[in-house]
Amino acid sequence: MPKVLFADFDFPDIDIERGLFAAAGVELATAQCRNDAELIAAAQGCAAILAQYAPVTERAVAALPALGVISRIGAGFDNIDTDACAKHGVWVANSPDYGVGEVATHALALALAMMRNIVAYNRDIGAGRWHYESSGKLRRATNMTLGIVGLGRIGKRMAHIGRNVFKRVVACDPYIIDGDFPAYVERGNLAEVFAQSDVVSLHVPLNQETRGMIGAPVLAAMTPGSFLVNTARGAVVDVDAALAALDSGTLAGLALDVLPVEPVPADSKLLGHPRVILTPHAAFYSVEAERELRRKAAQNIITFLRTGRPDYVVVAGTRRP
Ligand code: NAI
Repeated sequence: MPKVLFADFDFPDIDIERGLFAAAGVELATAQCRNDAELIAAAQGCAAILAQYAPVTERAVAALPALGVISRIGAGFDNIDTDACAKHGVWVANSPDYGVGEVATHALALALAMMRNIVAYNRDIGAGRWHYESSGKLRRATNMTLGIVGLGRIGKRMAHIGRNVFKRVVACDPYIIDGDFPAYVERGNLAEVFAQSDVVSLHVPLNQETRGMIGAPVLAAMTPGSFLVNTARGAVVDVDAALAALDSGTLAGLALDVLPVEPVPADSKLLGHPRVILTPHAAFYSVEAERELRRKAAQNIITFLRTGRPDYVVVAGTRRP
């Protein structure tokens, strides 16, 4: 019977995975691996790894000769060394399409919460202030421009649902052709998107190119009083530079669903900041999306064990089940 390691998870129970693997005749081992030493120890003899946030390094991949596939529970796969997997012939799979609508609506909700001062009003009322200008002046959304960085699945959905709220939608994505830009989205480079937008929403994967991509030089191009939303990956934004942009007034608000270190460290300057909104890496979440995500991530492994190829291929490996 092939064996799968569930390397880490923060779900209250794993009944979905237990049911799917049992029905497929696969043995399931569970762990909460936080580093490659723990992963190497837990995954010995396993044909597959199901990983949520556990880091999968080259050392781990090299030390696990029976490993055929790693399935990431999620769309992003930056916790997995994909170059090392390709080098060692290990397949990598993800679940790219379970929560596109959830992340886009979450990003829009964060943008609207800042533009309409929702969090500040609620705080002001709690402090005894009841006035429509208690937290400053608001601007008309249909005079504003939405900027999108990364016009993939989620970025495109954000553009689609944002187009009725904003006057313009402008986006940058050097990896898609003009024909894949919807007609209602104007194309710009990164600096142009930041210079022209009142709200910028980030939808790029985390990789060597995008790590720290949103730092002081890019933020300096923004019109004072702009807003930044990040539902992509925390390390795409230089958080210190974003806090400095809040202090200088370049940013009027900063909304982050993802952070370089999660959960947020207790001494983070983001905590309690009056113009910062945080959500706990929850953009993907709805009951329906979580169920679909977990089913698809497990199914990648079951399909690989049956056919030699997972459903959603990130890295095409050479190892066989
Ligand atoms: P996708 O792969 O469909 O789209 C990403 C887009 O970014 C692609 O079109 C790509 O060409 C573009 N891109 C890559 N490098 C770029 C650069 N330097 N500048 C501009 N564009 C660039 O991915 P999808 O499904 O839209 O997801 C995007 C990211 O959202 C994921 O990689 C993941 O990290 C994050 N995510 C976060 C969730 C959350 O709960 N907060 C849930 C799901 C995804």
